[in-house]
Amino acid sequence: MNSGASAIDLRSDTVTTPTQAMRDVMARAEVGDDVLGDEPTVIRLQEKAANLLGKADSVYVPSGTMANLCGICSQTRHGEEIIAHNESHFYFYETGGFAAVAGCSVRFVPGRRGIFGPDVIEANVRPLQIHYPRTSLVIIENTHNRGGGAVWKVEQVKAVCDQAHEMGLRVHMDGARLLNACIAAGVDPTAYTQHVDTVSMCFSKGLGAPVGSVLAGDEETIQTAHHFRKMLGGTMRQSGVIASGAIYALDHHVKRLADDHANAKAFAQRIAQVPGITLDVSEVETNMVFFDIDPKWGPAKKFVRRLEKEGVRMFATGPQRLRAVFHLEVSAEQAKRAAEIIAGVLQQTPA
Ligand SMILES: Cc1ncc(COP(=O)(O)O)c(C=O)c1O
Repeated sequence: MNSGASAIDLRSDTVTTPTQAMRDVMARAEVGDDVLGDEPTVIRLQEKAANLLGKADSVYVPSGTMANLCGICSQTRHGEEIIAHNESHFYFYETGGFAAVAGCSVRFVPGRRGIFGPDVIEANVRPLQIHYPRTSLVIIENTHNRGGGAVWKVEQVKAVCDQAHEMGLRVHMDGARLLNACIAAGVDPTAYTQHVDTVSMCFSKGLGAPVGSVLAGDEETIQTAHHFRKMLGGTMRQSGVIASGAIYALDHHVKRLADDHANAKAFAQRIAQVPGITLDVSEVETNMVFFDIDPKWGPAKKFVRRLEKEGVRMFATGPQRLRAVFHLEVSAEQAKRAAEIIAGVLQQTPA
């Protein structure tokens, strides 16, 4: 039995806690009042993020969910339609805010591992007729979470955006893990973001900050997003305390994302050899590993409880499907140990 604090926690990269060095910086943060527009550290973060993402402006928000929702609200009107993949995070896990708050419907397009091409845009934009909602926004997710941490190629993003723009649509990128995609593809964020109108990015995932995300875009769109952030209750006061953690993360925790990718790959290579596990190692591109277990081991949810008893925590994401996510609190040695624990459990008799 080895659970609780000493467990190897592979549930998500959101479980990371601020390092001591990050906490020290946060404790000393210069602060103001962001509702009144004079929070110096938040202003500094917004400028830094806009610069990194090659956009005119950005707005700091408490979560990736709010960044996506502000992006949607700022670029659509009630009754309009969004084109997206059905496994998209904003659709799957963000409480239907696109419908409840933004008043939009979603038209799904097919695509392997969450990635689709320009042809499906053309085929799914509604004709301008009285019968149809107006299509106004395309959402792409990079890396694609439920697609297995899949990375869009820059040319794929460009092709979809060119098609969307030609048809008068805007494009939002859910870039919660954009920097993972950049490390994997070996490109700067602007290689991707120059093609999209808005992009969200999270500091509280692999980057290891405790709170916050950003939405970046042109000045007018970000001004509108400020309005929606306030409406949603996301405009904070002395938020420089948390924003300074995000600045620290951008300065210190980007390059090391490559370690998480290497640990994910090593873990995948080991467990792919274990009978009872189905996993395509070539699909492990970033810090996420999705795999299926043979039904003789029972449902994934039950298997997760068994692993928890052995000191490895992960999530079931489907009837037989599990997800392991690597992050700055999982060392190479722990990644190896987690794989051996799983192999050990699968050598026992099914429960
Ligand atoms: C791809 C993606 N987008 C958005 C979010 C939402 O972020 P938050 O949990 O900060 O609302 C997540 C969270 O895991 C995510 O994986």
